[in-house]
Amino acid sequence: MTDTTLTVPAVPTTPDHRLFRGWFETGAPAGLAEHLDRYGPAPLPTDRRDRQALIEAVEQAGLTGRGGAAFPTGVKLRSVAERRGPAVLVVNGMESEPASRKDEALLDLAPHLVLDGAALAAAAVGATAVHLCLPRDEARAAQAAWLAEAVAERRRAGLDPLPVELHLLPHHYVSSEESSLVQWLNGGPARPLATPPRPFEKGVARRPTLVDNVETLAHLALIARYGPAWFRTAGRPDAPGTALVTVSGAVREPGVREVPLGMPLGTLLAGVGGTTRPLGALLVGGFFGSWLPAEQALRVPFAKPALAELGAGPGAGVLVALPAQACGLAETARVLRFLAAQSAQQCGPCRFGLPAVAADFELLAWGTPDGELARRLPHRVGLLAGRGACRHPDGASRLAATALSTFAADVEHHLLAGPCPGTALPPVLVVPDRPAADQEGWR
Ligand SMILES: Cc1cc2nc3c(=O)[nH]c(=O)nc-3n(C[C@H](O)[C@H](O)[C@H](O)COP(=O)(O)O)c2cc1C
Ligand code: SF4
Repeated sequence: MTDTTLTVPAVPTTPDHRLFRGWFETGAPAGLAEHLDRYGPAPLPTDRRDRQALIEAVEQAGLTGRGGAAFPTGVKLRSVAERRGPAVLVVNGMESEPASRKDEALLDLAPHLVLDGAALAAAAVGATAVHLCLPRDEARAAQAAWLAEAVAERRRAGLDPLPVELHLLPHHYVSSEESSLVQWLNGGPARPLATPPRPFEKGVARRPTLVDNVETLAHLALIARYGPAWFRTAGRPDAPGTALVTVSGAVREPGVREVPLGMPLGTLLAGVGGTTRPLGALLVGGFFGSWLPAEQALRVPFAKPALAELGAGPGAGVLVALPAQACGLAETARVLRFLAAQSAQQCGPCRFGLPAVAADFELLAWGTPDGELARRLPHRVGLLAGRGACRHPDGASRLAATALSTFAADVEHHLLAGPCPGTALPPVLVVPDRPAADQEGWR
């Protein structure tokens, strides 16, 4: 995959730019003065009635989380707001998904929308502390420094009633899961916690804790200003609003785009200049996502309900176009090896199941499969989901299972004749060279 950081298009591809509005108007990241000129200060709730009204607006807007699970944001806000005692807000800017660059792009181009959203969400749930979590990653060090300055500037301007504390966490795939963030903020390792209690019950400092993705909060900042009816003018009734999508693979202009939810995948690909080669499959959602055959997927709307009918989901807003000559089994084997190395090694499916599935996929892709592989691999994949403390094995299992069905003809070929020519081509999905989680440490 080409490095997609900030490769946003020079001209709008749709009239639905909201989070990237400033970028399209000026071609530059929005500083505080320009942000205030464009939007004015965030309409912070001042009393109980205002707080209720904000939560209701988010519910009516139908905003869903953009961090992976697409869970209704209003439900999360309400469940934290209704708990007793002061709450905590954790802003998830980790973006550990290697095929995604959308949170990084958003924090670069419109950081004050995210920070407005954080101030609003914190006020809505009665939070007395706000933590912004970023990855401890050299490539994003400059961004972290710039965000620290943006936070300080807002504070000087008296915009945020609460200080926003910035934290740099280890950049392992599972360290950005919500209970990992909570455990790290409580002084422990950035590893998922066995649940319950969930963060909304007892999270940071044992307080009710709301964990939200940065993009989710930026949408919330616009809903607070323009209302739920405005929010619903983009997208579909069952998937309202816009979403940031990182598009990569065999496309002419890979990068981050803002699109209305429900846009057919084929239209999304046309919006990035179209494809460079005939496609075999699409990966939707990221490394935890689903492979779909290209011809079946092009008309499918990019929205949770429509994708769910095919067993897929928008995940972290990722779309990868796999050319027909590439080997989907080799691509999947590389990703599974990465996911196995990045697990927290705490639960059975990650200690034993995931490494075994990754090894079987490598054998299928590049080796000489033994007679048992055809039966053993689907069986092992089926044992992964629903057995870990977090959804890491579930995501890996979805990727593996959809690879076996979407590339069924390739599976037959590999079992009978060994590796296909596509296995020798350069990878389409770039698997980052992150150190194995247990070597790097968790603090
Ligand atoms: C292994 C794993 C990794 C995750 N990584 C991220 C991430 O990098 N960023 C993110 O916002 N959510 C991530 N999530 C989802 C978070 O746990 C959490 O659901 C999310 O931050 C909630 O925000 P939202 O409701 O706004 O989507 C991850 C989940 C899992 C299981
Ligand atoms: S399922 Fe895997 S990643 Fe999740 S907590 Fe258990 S060992 Fe860690």
